[in-house]
Amino acid sequence: MTDMKTDAAMSDAGGEPLRLAGLAPFGVGGRRRCFVHPDFPGRCVKVARADGTTMLQPKKSGWRPAWTQRVYDNNADELNELGKLRRMLGDETMARHFPRLYGMVATDLGPGLVMDLVRDADGRISQTLREQLSEGNELGKYREAYDEFGRFLLGHGIVTRDLLDHNLAVRRGEGGEFRFYLIDGFGDAAWFAPGRWIPAIDRRRIRKKITRGWARFERVAAEMADPEQAKAALRWKLGMLRHR
Ligand SMILES: Nc1ncnc2c1ncn2[C@@H]1O[C@H](COP(=O)(O)OP(=O)(O)O)[C@@H](O)[C@H]1O
Ligand SMILES: [Mg+2]
Repeated sequence: MTDMKTDAAMSDAGGEPLRLAGLAPFGVGGRRRCFVHPDFPGRCVKVARADGTTMLQPKKSGWRPAWTQRVYDNNADELNELGKLRRMLGDETMARHFPRLYGMVATDLGPGLVMDLVRDADGRISQTLREQLSEGNELGKYREAYDEFGRFLLGHGIVTRDLLDHNLAVRRGEGGEFRFYLIDGFGDAAWFAPGRWIPAIDRRRIRKKITRGWARFERVAAEMADPEQAKAALRWKLGMLRHR
């Protein structure tokens, strides 16, 4: 059954919801829990945290209860933004620095957003930059990969949200080389214009995101180098893998 399952069948509202409840999430963010897709090891399913410990306040708007807003705020937004990216770049180009999108699926933990799971060449789930830094890796090791990622964003006119160390997965390739994947934070006023003329103002915005991102990483790296500060920073375990 699993082999034949298509994306269309997966999101079939009439089908059994995907079972995640008994599984351990491999990653937890401020808003969502991430599971390896039970049928596709190369994909992950993200569902809203339902433990009431969400670190972001859901927008207070409309009549919907807060928990449904939490679901929509993030996943629907990302569905939309990743969908835009795919239309503009195509799956193949997109997959160089972003997870490909497989749509929404019903799960026993609520609606789940399905996308590529970033894995190292050896098959282990890639760590975020934050996690790599927390293990004592020098930030300088990632400069080349980050520059390449920056050139990709600029070249395709991809405006992102702030580039955060816990939203960037660092994939380790065959030869130990790194590649950045943005795994969260694609939404927000993104303006995609691949292959087209990119207004100077957007270029400036993208450059700013890239520069500020690195400055932020430098602060995180300095924090991680101080054991007391690192302890505080890691308390929330954001962007840390639970298991690989
Ligand atoms: N596609 C992915 N590939 C690899 N790891 C991921 C992926 N998506 C999420 N993760 C891991 O799960 C964590 C939480 O996911 P994220 O999407 O950032 O949730 P949130 O929206 O709550 O911030 C990330 O910091 C990362 O460690
Ligand atoms: Mg995140």
